[in-house]
Amino acid sequence: MRMYDLIYTKKLGGALSAEQIAFWVAGAADGSIPDEQSASLLMAICWRGMDTAETLALTLAMRDSGKRLDLSSVPGLKVDKHSTGGVGDKTTLILGPIVAACGVPCPMFSGRGLGHTGGTVDKFAAIPGLKVELSEAEFLRSLAETGFANSAQTADIAPADKKLYALRDITATVESIPLITASIMSKKLAGGADALVLDVKCGPTAFMKTLEDATTLAQSMVNVGTAHGMQIRALITRMDAPLGWAIGNALEVMESVEILRGEHGDSELAQMSFRLAAEMLIMGGAANTLPEAQTKVQTVIRDGSALATLRRFVALNGGDAGALDDFSRLPQPGQVVEVRAAQDGYITAIDGRALGILAMDLGAGRRDRMDILDLGVGIRVLARMGQKVGKGDLLFQVLAKANHKVVPDLYLATMDIEATQPHTKPWLLASIGC
Ligand code: URA
Repeated sequence: MRMYDLIYTKKLGGALSAEQIAFWVAGAADGSIPDEQSASLLMAICWRGMDTAETLALTLAMRDSGKRLDLSSVPGLKVDKHSTGGVGDKTTLILGPIVAACGVPCPMFSGRGLGHTGGTVDKFAAIPGLKVELSEAEFLRSLAETGFANSAQTADIAPADKKLYALRDITATVESIPLITASIMSKKLAGGADALVLDVKCGPTAFMKTLEDATTLAQSMVNVGTAHGMQIRALITRMDAPLGWAIGNALEVMESVEILRGEHGDSELAQMSFRLAAEMLIMGGAANTLPEAQTKVQTVIRDGSALATLRRFVALNGGDAGALDDFSRLPQPGQVVEVRAAQDGYITAIDGRALGILAMDLGAGRRDRMDILDLGVGIRVLARMGQKVGKGDLLFQVLAKANHKVVPDLYLATMDIEATQPHTKPWLLASIGC
């Protein structure tokens, strides 16, 4: 088999066989196929696409490039969640403990942040001492003893994806529905969960800009999961403004804990986390209907058992569980700068992407994979979409390093304030799957 022929076939819009795809993925992972040939094929796939059979074959080849986790020692249906990523998205920190407290084991592998979106691993890393890279034995122990396990993806899960994702990142070939499907689903299938809830973000700052594209991606992932015996359901959610008031790692831990304590229950972040958790409970067999699942979610918030589960998870994995009750034990910023409204009006838009980039510049996120984060810096977004504000009202608190020069105008430029109250759109746009 020659890599040249695969590139040529795809360049002309032809379909690749499962054998051809397996040959490419194995060669990309072991280095026998040069990067320039893989990059050419990736670009041809971006332009020409892949049919359902090719996407399935690519997912399987990537899954089988590494290890598959066996979670069968932990009883019950194991349910995972994946989000395609957004600014301020800390739903994993909230729903993992909720689902576990309701009796459904929740195993999750997470990523580190890159660019304007944060990563769950970095948020957990803000809890002093918490081990965020668990061995397989530690992962299984956490799942068995607390019902919740979260770890950075290990190098032996879908290594071909790691290699190909790095190439996609530098060749502008990330935004392709079959490539995103195979990348996400290969890792999820290798991770060993029985069921998966997907949160597919849709909007100007997400990978998928239109509802049509988000629906196609969600359907593609649902098809692949279903074909492999995984229960899978996707929610398509709006992504424009940041999710919640916190952007930045320690701040996002604080906001998650507040929601687990029962605060901000009417916020979009809480509503989205509770709904995703409820879907997971149905898939895990802990509830038959959405209202029943939602009642269980509210019960474990109200009786404190969801927060107690997070404390147990943190303590078991070496972290300072006391920091969840005493936020002064979390990483702190060098200075706090207030940014106030320059005019009266209604908030009609908040640019999540721009705020994500500002947070990255503060040191909360990575411009480059090797950057070292400052876990205590970030942005408190203190006004919500549609809110009426007056000149001089506090819009942001910027938590920065002591020597960072904060420019308030950059923050003001991320919020549109107009005279007319906007029509606020719902966060849930559609749902797909079982
Ligand atoms: N997240 C992934 O893991 N892979 C992609 O291709 C896109 C988002």
